[in-house]
This record gives sequence, structure tokens and C-alpha cells, in this order.
Amino acid sequence: MIAYVWAEDEDKVIGKDGELPWHLPADMAFFKKVTLQGDIVMGRRTYETIPKRPLLGRRNIVLTTNQDYEAPGAMVVHSKEEALALGKEYGEDLYIIGGATLFKMFEDDVEILYRTLINEHFKGDTYFPRDFDYDKFERIQSEVGPVDDKNKYAHTYEVWQRKE
Ligand SMILES: NC(=O)c1ccc[n+]([C@@H]2O[C@H](COP(=O)([O-])OP(=O)(O)OC[C@H]3O[C@@H](n4cnc5c(N)ncnc54)[C@H](OP(=O)(O)O)[C@@H]3O)[C@@H](O)[C@H]2O)c1
Repeated sequence: MIAYVWAEDEDKVIGKDGELPWHLPADMAFFKKVTLQGDIVMGRRTYETIPKRPLLGRRNIVLTTNQDYEAPGAMVVHSKEEALALGKEYGEDLYIIGGATLFKMFEDDVEILYRTLINEHFKGDTYFPRDFDYDKFERIQSEVGPVDDKNKYAHTYEVWQRKE
């Protein structure tokens, strides 16, 4: 199974200056719970935004064109096909965690979407693909996230499944 896991604001912003534009620990916890069920696949830029990398408890698969790229503790691949083959080889679900280039790249392969919708408008420079075809998916779950001292933004965790 191939899934996307990401958070976006109301304008589909997902990143700014190579980082997340928001601090939302509840969403980080949600992300961890979901992705611990399989392996994670990410672009080289997203990998480098992770302060303590690799993320533990799941295989980290990093996509780069750089044949010499070194990511200690992670697996490095150079094509979408190579990433998909690793998922098959290990028999694990693959969670594609970004960034924008990967959310475009796997759009014909993805079966489940874990989308956190944040009800804000942030400044950003990286967006979830605007032409993503949600008509091919149905929303099967929607749960409001907590808002408190540590989680200042109203947000909703959605799960979408590809239609038959
Ligand atoms: N809100 C969220 O849920 C979320 C999730 C993830 C990321 N983000 C944010 O998104 C931003 C990063 O996203 P991004 O789109 O700029 O970068 P990205 O997708 O993380 O990484 C792009 C890199 O992936 C590699 N790559 C892409 N296509 C490839 C291909 N066909 N073959 C081999 N390698 C390929 C290239 O690495 P090389 O340059 O090394 O060749 C490319 O520079 C950051 O701001 C991050 O914080 C947000």
C-alpha cells in the first residue's frame, strides 16, 4: 500500500524556507503514529529538514539524483521505481512524506491520503500539487485535532481512500 502523509494550510502551503511554516506537536504525534506502521519515503530536501535523522522505528528511504549522497542510517534511492521496489522487497507499506516533488511523482500510485488540514493562511514557498485529483478518492475519516497551549491552530485529520 502506498500512502501520502502531510499537513497543509487553507492555501495548500506545506513549506517555507525549507521548513514547516507552523509548529503543531499534535500533528507531529499523528504523523509518527501513522508512519510507524511502515517505511517512509521522502525527497532529499525534506530529509535534510529532519533535525534528528533518520526517524527511528521505520526505514527511511531518501530520493536524490546525487549518486554520491550519503545518509547514514537511511536508504538512498535514485528513482520512483527503486523506491517502490524496496517497498515490495521488504513487504512494507510505503508512506510518502514529501515534499512537493514527491507528492507529484507518486500521484498515480498513491492509494491512501492522510491529510492534516490547518485552518490558517501561512506564508509559504512550497505547495501540495494544486491539480491533485481528489475526485479519484473518497474521504473516509475526518477528526478534529486538539487546540490548546501547545497546538494553537485549528486542524483536522482526514483520511481519503482511492475509489475502486
Ligand atoms: N507540510 C508537510 O507535510 C511537509 C512534508 C514534507 C516536506 N515539507 C516541506 O516541503 C519543503 C521541501 O519540499 P520540496 O518539494 O522542496 O523538496 P523534496 O520533494 O523534499 O526534495 C526534492 C529533492 O528530491 C530529489 N528528487 C526529486 N525528484 C527526483 C527524481 N525523479 N529522481 C531522483 N531524485 C529526485 C532531488 O534531490 P537532489 O537535489 O539531491 O537530487 C530533489 O531536489 C520543505 O519546506 C519541507 O519543510 C512539508
